[in-house]
Amino acid sequence: MSARFSVAILTGSKGRGSNLTSLIHHAQRGEIPADVNLVISPKNGTQAVETARSLNVPVVILPYKSETYAEDLMETLVEHKITLICLAGYMTLLPTLVLDAFPNRVLNIHPALLPKFGGKGMYGSHVHEAVIAAGETESGCTVHFVTEHYDEGAPVLQYPCPVWPDDTPASLAQRVIELEMKAYPAAIKKLHEDRAP
Ligand code: GAR
Repeated sequence: MSARFSVAILTGSKGRGSNLTSLIHHAQRGEIPADVNLVISPKNGTQAVETARSLNVPVVILPYKSETYAEDLMETLVEHKITLICLAGYMTLLPTLVLDAFPNRVLNIHPALLPKFGGKGMYGSHVHEAVIAAGETESGCTVHFVTEHYDEGAPVLQYPCPVWPDDTPASLAQRVIELEMKAYPAAIKKLHEDRAP
């Protein structure tokens, strides 16, 4: 039985924290082979940061725009002995310094069935607006490996859901986020099972 992942969740400046909350709860209940040992946010005071603190997970604030962002991020991850990075609402490209140090150990969740509706500018409600405008009858979410390009790494898993004719971006977003909160823990389990003993 291989060791549990030591997870850092990297959030964004909007930092609503649905995926973060789900991952921490799953880890704390022993439902995934992982411990969430760190949350990194570019901003203090977000809902994600407040939730992490209330669930006793250490939080480090690192603004994306700092000149030493890549080095600070790397140092923080090493300090906390992190073995798996999970992006959740993280809205910039991860520095190559970090990507190179964590091969196949950085995951992202995206609110659509990639490779459709991905790429720069495709985040949050923009994705659901585009899905509805394209007349899709199916959407969902994708957990994928992170590369130096937006939304391009190989998928770990995808969960589909229907798009109903009367859906609005908000109603579709709600259906997808509920799916995301199940998909991310399942992807971590799968990654753990698939890795070499
Ligand atoms: C999630 O819907 C996630 O899929 C999306 O940001 C949201 C974060 O919400 N990510 C992207 O669009 C990445 N391109 P949360 O903070 O409530 O988990």
